[in-house]
Amino acid sequence: MNAVRYFSKSGNTKTIAEAIAEGINVKAVSITDEPALKEDVDVLFLGGAPYANIMAPELKQYAENLDKTKVKKVVLFTTSNWSRRTVLTLKKILQKKGITVAEDYFYAHMLHIKGRIEAAKAFGQKHI
Ligand SMILES: Cc1cc2nc3c(=O)[nH]c(=O)nc-3n(C[C@H](O)[C@H](O)[C@H](O)COP(=O)(O)O)c2cc1C
Repeated sequence: MNAVRYFSKSGNTKTIAEAIAEGINVKAVSITDEPALKEDVDVLFLGGAPYANIMAPELKQYAENLDKTKVKKVVLFTTSNWSRRTVLTLKKILQKKGITVAEDYFYAHMLHIKGRIEAAKAFGQKHI
């Protein structure tokens, strides 16, 4: 089973999460609605965005609490104005826990979300 989890304040990351999820035939779920994985996951797509240079504490906590035994691999995605630091920071947290993180990640600029929907779907399909 594969899964898509995200944190999104204004909807950009949610839109990308939903496109990735559509590509792999699952439902994108906000970490606010489901703070921990209930089932084992082969590929977990995890995404968020930076706000004033840092990712939401909710997402940081989610990554820190992620159960290593429940995921085979994490694939990251992010939206922002310019920064890619959310994926870099998440990668560091997860790798430190011994969780495998894909080299490749998906990025969408905050002003070009709609134009990246098809690419996000394809990204999802490519990474499962
Ligand atoms: C208060 C605030 C601070 C932000 N700070 C940054 C930032 O430091 N770097 C950046 O690249 N984008 C920044 N952004 C842009 C967001 O990361 C971008 O709009 C992102 O797509 C928001 O994702 P969301 O709609 O899923 O919440 C900021 C946006 C807001 C509202």
